[in-house]
Amino acid sequence: MTQDELKQAVADAALAYIRPRLENDTVLGIGTGSTANLFIDALAQIKGQINATVASSEASAQRLKGHGIPVYELNTVDRVDFYIDGADESNRALQLIKGGGAALTREKIVAAVAQEFICIADESKLVHTLGQFPLPVEVIPMARSHVARELVKLGGDPVYREGVVTDNGNVILDVFNFSIPQPLTMEEKINNITGVVTNGLFALKPADVLLLGTAEGVKTLRAEIRAASPERSC
Ligand code: 5RP
Repeated sequence: MTQDELKQAVADAALAYIRPRLENDTVLGIGTGSTANLFIDALAQIKGQINATVASSEASAQRLKGHGIPVYELNTVDRVDFYIDGADESNRALQLIKGGGAALTREKIVAAVAQEFICIADESKLVHTLGQFPLPVEVIPMARSHVARELVKLGGDPVYREGVVTDNGNVILDVFNFSIPQPLTMEEKINNITGVVTNGLFALKPADVLLLGTAEGVKTLRAEIRAASPERSC
């Protein structure tokens, strides 16, 4: 199967996962990226059953609205039941790197509110140690050089993502050559740099479920080994 076929399979699997769990008042959080787009398109098949969504980007909000699916501001809902989104990398503890589409801050906010975070990804995204994918960091524009110097001190090679302005009006530094064996510690360290809005590590609040598209079919992984992490348990 091609990568696109695997993405379609996990989008369909996510729809099958949430469909029997939908209530009249369910609020769905919707992620950003090509896999999330396939989920949005799948969701359109049952749009009459969708009470409310909140989106992690302007692009996803527009796509949802294009299908006639109701989209609300996060501040106007009292909870998010499920958050469905892709990832750039996941380890087996379901700690993620996200932000390849520059939507990491809103993604992290919606994930923080959600009662259950369902990550959808093809098998190329599953890694032993995070960091082969360059880690995105959203930065206040005037702090770009300062944050880049601090990221070098942490051992990475930050590169300014030219021409990209986030939905929040900020810029992105992508940190290359940055193996991350201790994602919890690194997420906190980077967030503590003045000028950082957030970083693309989702380790403090990882996914709850990973629907992983493989040649043998979609596998359901849960973050069972998180407590066994030598770093510290969540
Ligand atoms: C966007 C993201 C995406 O979830 C991530 O980049 C994966 O994208 P895709 O589904 O296109 O592979 O974090 O900010």
